[in-house]
Amino acid sequence: MSMNIETVTGRRVWDSRGRPTVEVDVTLAGGARGRAIAPAGASTGSGEAVDLRDRGASQSGMDVTRALAGIADEIAPALAGMDAADQAAVDRRMIDLDGTPNKSRLGGNALIATSMAVAHAAAAGAGLPLWRYLAGDNAPGALPLPEIQIFGGGAHAGRRIDIQDLMVIAVGASDFATALDWTADVYRAAGKLMAERGKLSGVADEGGFWPLFDSNEEALSTLLRAIERSGHRPGEDVAISLDIAASEFGENGSYRLDRENRTLDRAGMADMLLEWTKRYPIVSIEDPLAEDDEAGLVEFTRAAGPTLQIIGDDFLVTNAARVRHAASVGACNAVLIKPNQAGTLTETRAALEAAREAGYSAVVSARSGETEDVTIVHLAVGWNVPQLKVGSFTRSERMAKWNEGLRLAEQLPTGGELPPRASLPWKV
Ligand code: PGA
Ligand code: ZN
Repeated sequence: MSMNIETVTGRRVWDSRGRPTVEVDVTLAGGARGRAIAPAGASTGSGEAVDLRDRGASQSGMDVTRALAGIADEIAPALAGMDAADQAAVDRRMIDLDGTPNKSRLGGNALIATSMAVAHAAAAGAGLPLWRYLAGDNAPGALPLPEIQIFGGGAHAGRRIDIQDLMVIAVGASDFATALDWTADVYRAAGKLMAERGKLSGVADEGGFWPLFDSNEEALSTLLRAIERSGHRPGEDVAISLDIAASEFGENGSYRLDRENRTLDRAGMADMLLEWTKRYPIVSIEDPLAEDDEAGLVEFTRAAGPTLQIIGDDFLVTNAARVRHAASVGACNAVLIKPNQAGTLTETRAALEAAREAGYSAVVSARSGETEDVTIVHLAVGWNVPQLKVGSFTRSERMAKWNEGLRLAEQLPTGGELPPRASLPWKV
């Protein structure tokens, strides 16, 4: 069956924040089809691929008609006739066509949706599920260990609290389905606890509770209580994971905690987080310091030692060169892998390979603006990435991903098995 690309068609669809986004359909000469949708971030790193938005009157400037025009006028003709199985060549062609370092001309949204749709079409042409196709000659991974949001904050909840994500990781779960069961228990317990105390104010962008807390630490202590109330053992069964998203409130080594009406310097910020790790069963912290605070990240990584996972998101932006640099200076010990930060699957994969070479762990991640697209679950399995973060345990743009994991458990030779805990960077 011919794997040559015949058509590439963009379509305007809507994401979970009610904003327009780009969907791409790819058809191959042999008849196979692939489809993918671009997600969108809110707390974006400055080094990310840039989405092309119209900036006009429509949809508060968020419309994507220019990105769709670029797909129709430039990307579709450039890719026509290319071999969909040669992902690297397809992605290289789009990178060259765009011609900017941050994909701002044709848009990271146009490029990532096309790149992923080409992979889907190639997998369909080969008669394989995407995860199997992506694994190639390598053995596919186990299912990834889920990292799931309970409370949202920061840019995802009107800055109601300063830190962005309070999540749980079911570190003691025997398999993927059990990890989801335990998280559902914690989510429900947290909701009850907050309703009882009058602290509940709807849900944040990724579906976690939007909390009316008076301090960041109140969020942490409530999460600990929710784990206890769920009947699971804090730290042994279910641990805490934080995304501080510190670039949202920190710059030039100064960190402004609005909720607590105080400003911390780099050392003060690091000390606060390290203190939390002593008092709460925290196994992972993402972006503990701002993306411009490399010295702070190096110091924090050294001070936290090898028992805490320290993930670079805004700091590393799924960029292989940045990962290599971070490893050379000793900043972070894990990388967040968001395909739309890189802009193509080939560059996403390169960032993952750089992480592996550096001995860094990796977490495949969704964005705060998501859709029914479940490509990232297949990436995590096909590329053998040990962890997955897609937001909360509510709302179907999130649940679509967790549910896809349950389906993949039926297809994988290892079933619902999770990666060996010893391979993960924390100790509980
Ligand atoms: P974003 O949030 O998609 O708004 O960037 C997710 C994250 O920071 O990990
Ligand atoms: Zn983040």
